[in-house]
Amino acid sequence: MEKKVTVVGAGNVGATAAQRLAEKELCDVVLIDIIEGVPQGKALDLTEAAPIEKHDAHLVGTNDYAASKDSDIVIITAGIARKPGMSRDDLLATNKKIIADVTRKVVAQSPRAVLIIVSNPLDAMCHVAYEASGFPKSRVIGMAGVLDAARFRAFISMALNVSVENIHAFVLGGHGDTMVPLPRYSTVAGIPITELMPPQRIEELVARTRNGGAEIVGLLKTGSAYYAPASAAVEMAEAILKDKKKILPCAAHLDGEYGIEDLFVGVPVKLGAEGIEEIMEIALTEDESAALKKSAAAVRELVEAMKQMK
Ligand code: NAI
Ligand code: 2OP
Repeated sequence: MEKKVTVVGAGNVGATAAQRLAEKELCDVVLIDIIEGVPQGKALDLTEAAPIEKHDAHLVGTNDYAASKDSDIVIITAGIARKPGMSRDDLLATNKKIIADVTRKVVAQSPRAVLIIVSNPLDAMCHVAYEASGFPKSRVIGMAGVLDAARFRAFISMALNVSVENIHAFVLGGHGDTMVPLPRYSTVAGIPITELMPPQRIEELVARTRNGGAEIVGLLKTGSAYYAPASAAVEMAEAILKDKKKILPCAAHLDGEYGIEDLFVGVPVKLGAEGIEEIMEIALTEDESAALKKSAAAVRELVEAMKQMK
């Protein structure tokens, strides 16, 4: 393939993203993990599926970053999940170290790549990657809004019994309980859902969207969602690889947009070959704006907590 994408972290999200990238023939894929054998085994397994799936993407699994040289995009899904007895700060400190280390290694090989960050806590990990990479803000992008909006779209589709293809939705803010689904900008065939459902029903769908990650964890018990997260990261990668100029909600470094300074927060952006080519500032009501600021404050709390950790 003409393009090359490295996925760091060959766990559930990373391996599924590698599969989707290859099956869509978007690029060759390098899958990296710290555990020996796992990326090699998963890449080989996916390679053996290629004759049946009918794609010619090359997949390499490795523990060596040299193989990632000159990637167009690096998707970072490495990290650990919170374990029993581990505080949120412990998780933050551990993943901070992992993301900083991984970022430095990928950037040394691919100084022109666009970074798509997936690891949690998402918005805080974007800050870590931004600082560790020294990249311009256009080339460090967090995946959360596409996933959260896809969940909202799925729930709207189920509630109204209409095709998911008819549904657009926007979810702004941080990737957490304070995220801000925007019903006014969420439409079915161009019709705002506020015209199609009573406020109480919309509120239920908004609450389910906010709880979307936890709902899946509650069902899986031993892990978190990965099919939809992988799809979301790959939609972002495809927009960049194909220079589509696609508007998607992503975590972007804001410098005054929406009245928010020096913080990664989910907002609509235009994705093309250069990464984030434009941050779209859409008009918000007072309530929506207050909800976005509240969500940004929750992200800032994590970023400040990280500053205390050395
Ligand atoms: P997982 O546990 O299945 O995979 C994580 C992988 O990272 C493991 O294979 C592990 O060996 C690897 N890893 C750990 N340290 C590493 C290092 N230093 N270098 C290279 N690889 C390393 O987890 P899963 O389900 O794939 O999730 C990955 C991350 O993505 C988690 O932090 C999760 O919370 C986050 N996530 C974020 C979402 C979002 O919306 N932003 C959605 C879903 C997951
Ligand atoms: C999710 O929303 C765990 O952040 C992950 O599913």
